[in-house]
Amino acid sequence: MQLFLDTANLDEIREIAAWGVLDGITTNPSLVGKEKSDFKKLVQEICKIVPGPVSAEVVATDAEGMIKEGRSIATWAENVIVKCPLTPAGLQATSTLAKDGIRVNVTLCFSTNQALLAANAGAYFVSPFVGRLDDINQDGSALIAEIAQMFSIHAIETQVLAASIRTPVHVTSAALAGADIATMPYKVFKQLVHHPLTDKGVESFMADWAKVKDVVGSVG
Ligand code: G3P
Repeated sequence: MQLFLDTANLDEIREIAAWGVLDGITTNPSLVGKEKSDFKKLVQEICKIVPGPVSAEVVATDAEGMIKEGRSIATWAENVIVKCPLTPAGLQATSTLAKDGIRVNVTLCFSTNQALLAANAGAYFVSPFVGRLDDINQDGSALIAEIAQMFSIHAIETQVLAASIRTPVHVTSAALAGADIATMPYKVFKQLVHHPLTDKGVESFMADWAKVKDVVGSVG
């Protein structure tokens, strides 16, 4: 499963990109707004740091406006992905943009039938929001599994991008449910790597090595 960061913060992106495990970026109007900088320049900078897919969302709510904005966003960088909401206008925009050869991430997906519509519109990614479903006592991971099963049965090429990830457990659940990608906040990404026993193990290895460093010689 590919791992994306759900952020528009350049420092967070640079830090995780250095780990060599970052496959892409997703943003949304709220995340971009937090950075308080020019949208196009910010996305272009992100696309330079991360060579993988970088999602940038339209802010129009009508199909014509989304198509216009999507066609513009698509020129910002080779690896930019246009993000459209799962609304009738968003589906219409996705269908038109996909026919233009523009890759679209259809976002704000909360049901299997919505995901089917997104796929039929030609979506490159569909983003089911796991955390926001869990927030209202529905099973977000079960939705991922059902969409992945439906896409497999019908050989649908649209990729399932598990979004609205709140915890490392969501990442594991998304992977086991068959998501192609999980996109998560910086905080969750950092949590993935840390385990107290790993830290304790490194500490004890180093302590034992220090005791014999004069005997064992240098490594480099
Ligand atoms: O950016 C799309 C999605 O991951 C945002 O989810 O619930 O954290 O706002 P949320």
